[in-house]
Order: sequence, then C-alpha cells, then structure tokens
Amino acid sequence: MDKTIYLDNAATTRVNHEVFEAIKPYFEEQYGNPSSIYSFAGKSKKAIDEARETVAEFSNPRNVGEIENPSGMGTVGNAKCGDIMRIYLDMDENRVIQDCKFKTFGCGAAVATSSMATELVIGKTVQEALAVTNQAVMEALDGLPPVKVHCSLLAEEAIHAALWDYAQKDGIETEGLKPPVDDIDETEKFYEMPGE
Ligand code: FES
Repeated sequence: MDKTIYLDNAATTRVNHEVFEAIKPYFEEQYGNPSSIYSFAGKSKKAIDEARETVAEFSNPRNVGEIENPSGMGTVGNAKCGDIMRIYLDMDENRVIQDCKFKTFGCGAAVATSSMATELVIGKTVQEALAVTNQAVMEALDGLPPVKVHCSLLAEEAIHAALWDYAQKDGIETEGLKPPVDDIDETEKFYEMPGE
C-alpha cells in the first residue's frame, strides 16, 4: 500500500509518516479538520503576516541608544544566559515618560521585546508604565516561542528598575513599584531556560 503522505492538497510536499503522526495533533488542534484547506490557508496567511511584523521588530528595533542625564536608569541581567539590559527614561514635569531608550547585550528576542516595551511605555505615567508587563509586550509582538519567553522579562524588569531609580531621586511613592533585582533569575516570574 502506498503510504506517501502529502502536507498539501496539491500533493507537492511529501512528509515522513512518523513526522506526520507527530504533528497531526497540533494541526488538528489549531485548524480542525485537516481537509478544511480554505480555513487553513486563511489562518496561515494571518500567522505569516504576524510573523513578518515580529521579524521587522527583530531587524529594525526602535529606541536603541541612551539618554544623556536620564531621569531614571535601570540595569538588570540574567545570570543563566549572561544577557544584560539597560533602560533610560526621560520624564517630564508631569511625571510622564517623554522618551525611553535601551541598550542591551542580549539575544534577538530580548532586543525585539525591549524595542516593543519602550514603544509601549512612552507617553505613560509611572503607574501606567508599571502595568506594561512582559505578557503585554509579547501580545503586541503576537507571541514568542516558549523558550524565548524569559527574554521578555529583561525589558520589563529593567523598566521597573529605571522607574524605581526615578522615584527614588524624586522621592515619589508609587503603589506596586518595588526595589529592582540585579538578576532576573531571582524573580519568581522566571521562566524555564532552553534545555531545562
Ligand atoms: Fe538571554 Fe534571551 S535574554 S537568551
């Protein structure tokens, strides 16, 4: 019996039987009946469009650099991967973030999430910026692979550290703003590193 399996309706893409059995549950969960090619095509196109936006963020990060005489500056690292993130804030007299820049010695996902996080906090008050979590950043990027989720914490923690630095200098008390940790590996929000 011919056991050749094709991934597409036009029978152009062959797939190994074991590989097909392994990926089938994923496709069925994501797309329902494998024969529903029109729905599959629509979802695939949407996924590709979203991936393009994420790649653009990876390759053209915004707000890279530093701010001279920043209102607040925060630096955090992840001892497990060795990556480091520094965030600079420029606050106006109404305690609104006028500008936010970052410098990093980090992976591509750290750069993409920092780029998005800085964009999301510009124009926000301290309290509003605190609400910009790594989850919100990942949603804005339409997700990250599970092994890269921890990278998104660098920007969040570095922004909090910079907000803390600003609040300390200006003697401002802000609900929910906590002293920063130097190593995000110490935070309870740490996610598993690849290979663990
Ligand atoms: Fe260290 Fe991404 S931030 S691997």
